[in-house]
Amino acid sequence: MAFAAGVDVGSTQTKAVIINDQEEIVGRSLIDTGANVVTAAENAFELAMADADVTDQDIESVIGTGYGRYQINFGHDQVTEISCHARGAVRMFPGTRTVLDMGGQDTKAISVAPAGDILDFCMNDKCAAGTGRFLGAASTALDIPLGELGPTALKARKSVRISTTCTVFAESEILSWLGRGQKIEDILLGVHESIASRSLGLLRRVGIEREVTFSGGVAKNIGMVRTLEAKLGLPLNVSDESHYMGALGASLFGLDRLRAGYQPARPRLREEAS
Ligand SMILES: Nc1ncnc2c1ncn2[C@@H]1O[C@H](COP(=O)(O)OP(=O)(O)OP(=O)(O)O)[C@@H](O)[C@H]1O
Ligand SMILES: [Mg+2]
Repeated sequence: MAFAAGVDVGSTQTKAVIINDQEEIVGRSLIDTGANVVTAAENAFELAMADADVTDQDIESVIGTGYGRYQINFGHDQVTEISCHARGAVRMFPGTRTVLDMGGQDTKAISVAPAGDILDFCMNDKCAAGTGRFLGAASTALDIPLGELGPTALKARKSVRISTTCTVFAESEILSWLGRGQKIEDILLGVHESIASRSLGLLRRVGIEREVTFSGGVAKNIGMVRTLEAKLGLPLNVSDESHYMGALGASLFGLDRLRAGYQPARPRLREEAS
């Protein structure tokens, strides 16, 4: 059986998936990217192979994506994150016409044609205010784990408006609201709403067509899902695999090439070392 791998080396986390020739995910891994992008890519690939119970020899295609994709030295090729997230989203939710990928450093809005082609996309500028990094700043300032930010925000009775548009100043603004007696959950709802507003701006620029699929690590944050849905006035497609959509898309591009008979040799993992 042919297996294809997709490795999404993001600025914050590296995701790898292995799919079989039925396009089913048979293995996955998720690790922090850290300072060494090359090692992160290798480790994520190895962990996904272990999860799938396959070896490097079983993998016929490896496609890299994400900001560190050119550092992957055991793959066949690279494909952009825009294409990969759109492809993964359409595979998981075939009715997808708009994708919002919210990662650690970037947020991207992508408009997709019914057949899955990319019509337009738009991303945040250098500023990380509408991304996972803003949530990271809130997590640090309030000393709350990332995974609890969303559930805590949903307990809010009101929202504290966050006026800073800069991640660097977010921590001090959050602390100053705390000092003025505002509740943690109300501040957090304000943080989520601020990010949701920025995302809505990006989505409007590409045009919002149903269905809207939410991908990237921030899709794990239920508070972000709910605040975005409230602002959009639409339900979002979210799945347990949302964090893996880019890696899934990459693996599917590889499978396309295998089906087309394109099977070049590739450098094996840690070849020089063995
Ligand atoms: N369990 C979780 N609960 C809530 N948020 C999470 C969780 N896991 C990850 N995140 C969020 O997802 C972000 C990472 O997402 P992702 O892996 O899509 O980013 P990335 O691909 O590394 O970044 P980019 O695409 O911007 O280069 C983290 O910064 C964090 O905010
Ligand atoms: Mg990413």
